[in-house]
Amino acid sequence: MNRLDSFGIYFDETSSTFLLQTEKASYVMSVVNGYLGHVYFGKKLGYYPGKSVLRGSEYTYVSGKPGDKCTFMDGYPFEYSISGTGDFRTPALKIKNSDGFTGGELKYKSHKIYDGKKGVEGLPATFGSEKDTKSLEILLTDDVLGLEVTLKYSIFEGIDAVVRSVHIENKSDKEDGTFYIEKVMSSSFSLTCSNHEVITLHGSWARERIPDRRKIGHGRTSISSTRGISSHQEHPFMAVVSPDAGEDSGDVYGVSFIYSGNFLGEIERTQHDELRINMGIADDNFSWELKNGQSFDAPEAVLTYSGEGLGRMTHSFHRLFTDHLIRSPYLHKKRPVLINNWEATYFDFNEERLLQIARVAKEAGIEMLVMDDGWFGHRDSDNSSLGDWTVYRKKLPDGVDGLCRKINEIGLEMGIWFEPEMISPDSELYRAHPDYAIAIPGRPASECRNQFVLDLTRKEVRDCVYEQVAEILRSSNIRYVKWDMNRPLTDVGSLTTRGGEFHHRYMLAVYELQERLITEFPDLLLENCTSGGGRFDPGMLYYSPQFWCSDDTDAIERLYIQEGTALIYPPSTIGAHVSICPNHIVGRTTSLSTRGYVALAGTFGYEMDITKFSEEERAEIKKQVEMYHSLNPLVREGTYYRISSCSGLTKGNEKNKSFAWMNVSSDKKEALLTHVQERGGANERSVVLKLKGLSEDAVYKLSDGRSFTGDELMKIGFVTDKIYGDGASKLYHFIAE
Ligand code: GLA
Repeated sequence: MNRLDSFGIYFDETSSTFLLQTEKASYVMSVVNGYLGHVYFGKKLGYYPGKSVLRGSEYTYVSGKPGDKCTFMDGYPFEYSISGTGDFRTPALKIKNSDGFTGGELKYKSHKIYDGKKGVEGLPATFGSEKDTKSLEILLTDDVLGLEVTLKYSIFEGIDAVVRSVHIENKSDKEDGTFYIEKVMSSSFSLTCSNHEVITLHGSWARERIPDRRKIGHGRTSISSTRGISSHQEHPFMAVVSPDAGEDSGDVYGVSFIYSGNFLGEIERTQHDELRINMGIADDNFSWELKNGQSFDAPEAVLTYSGEGLGRMTHSFHRLFTDHLIRSPYLHKKRPVLINNWEATYFDFNEERLLQIARVAKEAGIEMLVMDDGWFGHRDSDNSSLGDWTVYRKKLPDGVDGLCRKINEIGLEMGIWFEPEMISPDSELYRAHPDYAIAIPGRPASECRNQFVLDLTRKEVRDCVYEQVAEILRSSNIRYVKWDMNRPLTDVGSLTTRGGEFHHRYMLAVYELQERLITEFPDLLLENCTSGGGRFDPGMLYYSPQFWCSDDTDAIERLYIQEGTALIYPPSTIGAHVSICPNHIVGRTTSLSTRGYVALAGTFGYEMDITKFSEEERAEIKKQVEMYHSLNPLVREGTYYRISSCSGLTKGNEKNKSFAWMNVSSDKKEALLTHVQERGGANERSVVLKLKGLSEDAVYKLSDGRSFTGDELMKIGFVTDKIYGDGASKLYHFIAE
């Protein structure tokens, strides 16, 4: 037998078995009784496995012995299940015919394997070249419904990830073969294990993506959003882990979704202690009409496997998103150090105020001023003018272009805030077109932050808002846009769009608008934002290389938020700023240096009235900016490692009092260790941190002259300097001799 170790997708005719080989993982499917089953996902195999490992396949109902069809359907680990014909577990697909009945069977028809990868029409999607990416499409059909389901898989060289999506077509030959997709998951697979745990990222506004680890009990465990955005509350990500899984050991199955709207992640622990793990668009409020000849594309989901704990899972996601998802020309560039006026002024600013900030910022080495909310219509608070993207002359007498010129003369670039998806009841746009707001006819819609959401599923609404935004950008030298979105979708109704299709069509519309923006303005640095990080997801990263991580800028809170975010997203995507103390959200005071180190772990910038800072503080800011310039390449391009955490992500670390993380260059010659003590304690010794990712044989030097071998730093550990007080911190820059 020849070993099948190399990266690739293989098919064995005799056993009808598919084998997807990534760097260190295998993904296996096989056909039994005509049904595609999930055989295995895990540590890399050397050969095709036998079908006997396919649990449930012993019920060969075709021969009638020993089970019957129902028993087979009830237990077979379908690769992509459909409800209504004996599989009672939560399905991947649910189709309702025009009489309102559900029920289908998906039989294997054919497949193709090819180099490279196709995109997904209208949706964000991973990409890859013919050299480093391989794809598989498997066609399953239901002849009664006239349903064709194409399961799509792609793998990428050097990364333990399988990217999946599903294409559904109505091929009915009946005169009216219309059917309705009531549920469509983008990925589904099974695991045979009874004691696994799940990690999800839970949160709230200003408290996004906090890791939550728990046991998986019998029945269904799910996370979802029905808010029309991926949400602050739950995140389209799950990791199913073996109970012993830590940073560097244990089985970890990561599931992520390249989508920014309603989602559902579910795990069913079945009667036989198997897990069915699904990820896709939320079925709540979803019903997609498919007439004869029409098709539907589900967004992509990502599955990762690590047999070496959470650290390797993180690296798989970081590499996949960096190399195969984010398209921005800024991805590998140092982003300008910006200062945003939101926490400095809120709505209370005018041209002179902004210019004052810009002048002082320039002296500190800051490179861009971002004008946040309040520059348009007659907006003095959050109760008006969304939808009227014309300058508020009372604040900016010379217009946006005039301000931009003056800021440029000071030597800074300029950025601007928009909230393009919204409409205020007090706006010219609403007075002219009240029907542009999403609402159920006859029912007064709920305002949230005094605003409604635009019905972007209508082309004329999209064009209206796009043209206004683009006009501002065409007429001034603006280099950066913060695209905000500050309320969930409620009271969903539309003049033109079917109810069960609205939320998905809304997301398609947002994606279309962002695509249009970056196509017309390819040099624009786009940062997405949704009341902080309410739509920080892989879908939005396809359009913007960075996302405002959270409205909570407190450095200590950010340790949790940024660690949860960095569990899957690379540091280069994490919008992080130094802000004023006491912090506006939590009232905590933290040193300027700790705030700087925490912001350095993301994109870095400022969110404060720098004119109110003392000379000494401004001098410190100047040093921070220099620190950013020298260390950002390492943070942005290096490999990120969690070293110590207080979040409970890894078993036992709940008692830690310190967060520590590292960024290591790809040649392992340079490493940055950031250590932040969340809480000081009495009579405690220095913390010993076992470093990661270094070269054992190299000798690393710190700027104070101390030197260590990589071997000792990783095995014995690094004894940190004693630091005092809550929130105290220290940065260590190791350079190999
Ligand atoms: C949201 C954003 C903030 C700020 C305000 C402006 O809350 O997250 O950063 O832009 O809107 O209204």
